[in-house]
Amino acid sequence: MAEKIRVLLSEEEVDQRICEVAAQISKDYEGKEVHLICILKGGVFFTCELAKRLTVPVSLDFMSVSSYGADTKSSGVVRIVKDLDEPLKGRDVLIVEDIIDSGRTLSYLIQVLNQREPASIRLCTLLDKPERRVKKQVKVDYTCFTIPDEFVVGYGLDYAQKYRNLPYIGVVEF
Ligand code: IMP
Ligand code: MG
Repeated sequence: MAEKIRVLLSEEEVDQRICEVAAQISKDYEGKEVHLICILKGGVFFTCELAKRLTVPVSLDFMSVSSYGADTKSSGVVRIVKDLDEPLKGRDVLIVEDIIDSGRTLSYLIQVLNQREPASIRLCTLLDKPERRVKKQVKVDYTCFTIPDEFVVGYGLDYAQKYRNLPYIGVVEF
């Protein structure tokens, strides 16, 4: 293992913040049902922790997209690897992502999902790296943490498919 992991956000900090964001979402969606779309694989840990804390009715679906390559940078070319199982028409959709970096993945995805005529689409992310944004039009409705431009792992995020299972967010030091 050539790289070291430095703790950026502890397990307690992450859990605490997810509770706050879940409370906000529950309030905003009161009287509605929220259809969570988990973006695999990175979004899976966050989606579970968030979903458990929502007090409104929840349904779940999963989508897997790939931006080609195992590098630490998104290439901008997005491919749907696994599509949703269910239609979105008339539903209040909340996309759940691990991290918004350049915004390329989400900018593409929101466009595709909007064509399926949901009642609404909002975006929720565990982490946001706004300094790296290329697609400035991507509007993030719920952000747990805004972080500096560093490569992070844990809580679903990987480096070459490793470290997704860390219960905290760490910075990779190469
Ligand atoms: P974007 O299209 O540039 O916004 O990239 C989003 C995707 O790149 C995320 O869903 C992650 O899979 C990956 N990514 C971006 N930054 C990081 C990071 O710091 N650690 C791990 N994965 C990252
Ligand atoms: Mg991702």
